[in-house]
Amino acid sequence: MVKIAIAGGAGGVGQEIVDALVATKKHEIILLSRRDAPSDSGSIPEGATWIKVDYASVEQLTQVLQGVHTVLSFVTESTGEGSPVQFNLIDASVKAGVKRFAPSEWASSGFTHMGWYAFKEATRQCLKDLNKDKKVLEYTLFHPGYFVNYLTCPYPSMKYIPFAELPWDLNNRRWIGIEGGENARISLTTVNDVRNVVVQAIEFEGEWPVDGGIRGDDISMGEFLAIAEKVRGGQPFTVENREAQEFEAGTWATSWTPAFEHPAIPREKRASMAKVITGGMLLAVNANQLHVSDSWNKLLPDYQFTSVDDFLTEAWSEFPV
Ligand SMILES: NC(=O)c1ccc[n+]([C@@H]2O[C@H](COP(=O)([O-])OP(=O)(O)OC[C@H]3O[C@@H](n4cnc5c(N)ncnc54)[C@H](OP(=O)(O)O)[C@@H]3O)[C@@H](O)[C@H]2O)c1
Repeated sequence: MVKIAIAGGAGGVGQEIVDALVATKKHEIILLSRRDAPSDSGSIPEGATWIKVDYASVEQLTQVLQGVHTVLSFVTESTGEGSPVQFNLIDASVKAGVKRFAPSEWASSGFTHMGWYAFKEATRQCLKDLNKDKKVLEYTLFHPGYFVNYLTCPYPSMKYIPFAELPWDLNNRRWIGIEGGENARISLTTVNDVRNVVVQAIEFEGEWPVDGGIRGDDISMGEFLAIAEKVRGGQPFTVENREAQEFEAGTWATSWTPAFEHPAIPREKRASMAKVITGGMLLAVNANQLHVSDSWNKLLPDYQFTSVDDFLTEAWSEFPV
């Protein structure tokens, strides 16, 4: 049994992980939030305690983290320089004697073409600098690629994470891609596998690896499209490929653009962000930034991951044709 602090634990991904950790009934869980605890105590998972924090105060964070073994961060800092919230969390973790830290990664191995992930890059650098001369804080960068669950949109397959439309639209059998990008590789992992890996990582007795790739499945974009078409009845999709240069210049045009409804993006900015994020995502995949290592797969050799094909075949067998 260890005490785990979950920063941003009331967000979409955080709640998925809290749910899994609470279900083990093994750990003491504290949820860190900038907000007051909800008046409806039923919305706080049983076995977890909500603590309102001021991320600007290292002193307060240090107090809150007393006795904490592991900090898992899910905060999304979308603006500004660096990653002030996570810098302070790291500082406070060290001061409070926290043993393990996982920053708010949970996605790609690299960040090229994804400016909205600048805060993650800054946090990586902060942790690297911290351990430059000697190990001050054990940490892992959990990255599972994209959650394959998004590919069931608009039919729900996640409990807490809201859908964001992707350029790969199985429901409407349409696909946006990069000309000649069929061999780029993408890692896709189910949310359930990420939940299970984190539960096992908490109990893992060895040292956490810095490179925390979680590879549910790893396929080429060509294979990905073939699986998508197969699970949608074998009918060919309408594929709109554009040149990488058009995505880089922002001049690309297709008959549709995925809508982004992520709560971290203000409503009035979502339409303009949709094109930027779609283009950035496709370029990132093309540059293999979503291709992650199998670091945690190797450390947990008995764990069976769900393939993209198996997950999507089963999920789409239950949805309307
Ligand atoms: N691999 C994938 O496919 C995938 C998909 C989605 C997300 N992710 C990653 O998973 C992580 C969590 O994402 P999410 O979608 O769960 O995020 P989210 O729901 O938007 O936010 C998580 C929490 O962060 C806190 N937060 C937001 N802005 C903050 C700020 N400026 N300062 C401090 N705290 C702030 C909020 O908590 P309070 O308001 O309670 O303080 C919020 O509930 C991110 O790193 C994201 O990139 C990966």
